[in-house]
Amino acid sequence: MNVLVTAGPTREPLDAVRFISNRSSGRMGYAVASAAKKAGHCVRLISGPVALPPPKGVRMIRVVTAQDMLDAVLASLAWCDVLVMAAAVADWRPKKPAARKLKKQDGPPRVEWEAAPDILQTIAPLKKPTQVFCGFAAETNDLAREAKRKLRRKNLDAIAANDVSKNNQGFDSIWNALTLYRASGEVRVVPRATKEKCARQVMQMVEEIFVEKKDKKFRKIY
Ligand code: CTP
Repeated sequence: MNVLVTAGPTREPLDAVRFISNRSSGRMGYAVASAAKKAGHCVRLISGPVALPPPKGVRMIRVVTAQDMLDAVLASLAWCDVLVMAAAVADWRPKKPAARKLKKQDGPPRVEWEAAPDILQTIAPLKKPTQVFCGFAAETNDLAREAKRKLRRKNLDAIAANDVSKNNQGFDSIWNALTLYRASGEVRVVPRATKEKCARQVMQMVEEIFVEKKDKKFRKIY
């Protein structure tokens, strides 16, 4: 399969030297890209700014903002059979980032915000019947309800939900615990494990969905 993975945070500029971002380390997305490569797939990894070495044999595409990431995803969309969106993309960005450095003596800045592009929502209508889109949902409350809502709203085939309220797993940790929700209604629990192990489970699930979709298309033709 051709597998497109996004990873890490995005950065949205506030002024010439400052940005707003989040705690994503990129580890989960990098682990998914590695697992996909090890399973024999052709992998492109679109990465926000992180401090991780690129996985071996994977084509790297480096981005900074949510808009950059959307552009990169759009450029590889027709190529991919599977998209795994593990990136923690900004929801909001400063509307008019200052071109110069804001000065302390000017007092606390008043920042006007606007929505950053929602990548999965933007590409949902472009999805081909045999393509598999898998999202991630990082939640602190109502994990199951929120994950299922995003699965439907973003027209995904699956979503990997993780509880980021615990500080020994999820954001910036080598550990994670996932619940995998499929659009078919199937639910799979991946108990606390390294992100490498979690990533293998995610890959196994998307491979299964891909085979099922291909099979369905084949049956329609014959
Ligand atoms: N996502 C995206 N574009 C965004 C924000 C998120 O494509 N601007 C993707 C993420 O990569 C993830 C999924 O959408 O795969 C869910 O992200 P999450 O931040 O959990 O959901 P939001 O849609 O931002 O919803 P909320 O802020 O209500 O949690």
